[in-house]
Amino acid sequence: MVELRDVCIQFEEKKVLDGFTLNVEPEERLVIMGQTGSGKSTILRLILGTQQPTSGSIFFKQFEITRLRRRKLQQVRRHIGMVYQYSALLSSRNVRDNVALPLEELTDKSSAEIDKIVDEKLDLVGMKDAKDLLPEELSGGMRKRVSIARSLVLEPELVLFDEPSAGLDPVIASVIDELIISLSERSNVTSITVTHEMDSAFRVGTRMAMLYQGKIIEEAKPEKFKQSKNPVVAQFLSGSTEGPILEDSQDAIAKK
Ligand SMILES: Nc1ncnc2c1ncn2[C@@H]1O[C@H](COP(=O)(O)OP(=O)(O)O)[C@@H](O)[C@H]1O
Ligand SMILES: [Mg+2]
Repeated sequence: MVELRDVCIQFEEKKVLDGFTLNVEPEERLVIMGQTGSGKSTILRLILGTQQPTSGSIFFKQFEITRLRRRKLQQVRRHIGMVYQYSALLSSRNVRDNVALPLEELTDKSSAEIDKIVDEKLDLVGMKDAKDLLPEELSGGMRKRVSIARSLVLEPELVLFDEPSAGLDPVIASVIDELIISLSERSNVTSITVTHEMDSAFRVGTRMAMLYQGKIIEEAKPEKFKQSKNPVVAQFLSGSTEGPILEDSQDAIAKK
């Protein structure tokens, strides 16, 4: 479904991804774990084609994202849903209008058809009764649900979640994780979730990958991943202060 092949991306002197290679299989829920600043959001932007790598190639199905012309890229992007870390709802639009936005902008569906789809997606995330509310009237968890509904209106084959439970209290975070699982099971979508939160990662993932110093250093099914002998993975899983991960290790790559 997705392949990143030997991808490098550098911002000024800082190498963020450095020979990053990863395959994503249809219908799996891949979780990419990594420290803050390790390049997780960058990976999602590369897959969406909103950011260009310095080198390497990125495929979504048969399309090489890095080589598509603007128009074609926009068409391909419709098959990919994105749930942003801070939900990214428009504050002046109510819930219904936020969820309807991709349909209004990218399709020629009638307003009756749009209403039907919006209702269906809001129902999926348990937010049908909140249609007329503004984002500021919603809790963080409710905003996240609305942004998930919005990511689904074009029936994507792939959904990208950027730190879906960040900033939510633990109970609400679990509810959002459950929602990610039920959506993927119900509609057979493939998903990639990036996170630095272990509990959430292991709830959601059918396969885990660890990003460190610009590369995937370990990748396995959850049970096997937990037993990884890699010292970086072990330290990340235990949250220990002893091990190869240093507070400034992201800056350390910059200087290499
Ligand atoms: N457009 C950009 N210009 C310059 N630096 C950037 C840009 N985007 C990301 N970075 C840097 O790349 C690193 C990785 O960023 P990001 O992918 O947002 O990390 P994460 O999502 O894992 O926290 C950070 O150090 C960030 O400052
Ligand atoms: Mg990020």
